[in-house]
Amino acid sequence: DKAQQDALKKAAGIEAAKLIENGMIAGLGTGSTVRFLVDELGRRVREEGLEFTGVTTSRRTQEQAESYGIKIVDIDDVDHIDITIDGADEVDANFNGIKGGGAALLWEKIVAVNSDKIVWIVDESKVVDVIGKFPLPVEVIPFGAAHVIERFEKRGYKPVLRLDAEGKPVRTDENNYVVDLHLERIDDPAELAEDLINTVGVVEHGLFLNMVDEVIVGNPDGPKKLFN
Ligand code: A5P
Repeated sequence: DKAQQDALKKAAGIEAAKLIENGMIAGLGTGSTVRFLVDELGRRVREEGLEFTGVTTSRRTQEQAESYGIKIVDIDDVDHIDITIDGADEVDANFNGIKGGGAALLWEKIVAVNSDKIVWIVDESKVVDVIGKFPLPVEVIPFGAAHVIERFEKRGYKPVLRLDAEGKPVRTDENNYVVDLHLERIDDPAELAEDLINTVGVVEHGLFLNMVDEVIVGNPDGPKKLFN
């Protein structure tokens, strides 16, 4: 159930927080698992005097981190990021994953490609044989979005424009739309990634292929680490 899943997410977040050391520049991801990570980092700042600089992947994470007194800087004001810790929606044995369930995939990918090391924190339910059961988020420019969705339909991608509780299109931190592709299984993630990124109007997609260095999996027996 949800309480148990949250406990696994929290354990993974607390384990990952140990990777942050004094003086580091750390990328902070987005989502419910990362919330637990940032809570723990806030505790370490308060109780242990931990000092580090954060680069955030969403306004939500920035607000939470700053509420703990964590110093957040703009990605363009740092020359490198030592480590980024983020959540994920699914990951397979080849370290291919889906991200963007929280609509933050674009900034997450930009922070990821500028990081020396990438760590994901997930609960055990997200480790899968084949990715794609989780609908693949694609960030799309609003102008002409209906036509992009039409193209996806023709290719059999089963696109659904993501709506908020009021039925209005969800907007990302860059004010774009999110289209979720209900593919059920993605047998050739590299081919799909290539096709999506070459579609005019697509800004970025949630396939993060073999980018992650370490996955910390929340498990009832305690967090387990998978190394790429
Ligand atoms: C945000 O856009 C996503 O990539 C999240 O990292 C991902 O959805 C994991 O979120 P949860 O930790 O809430 O499951």
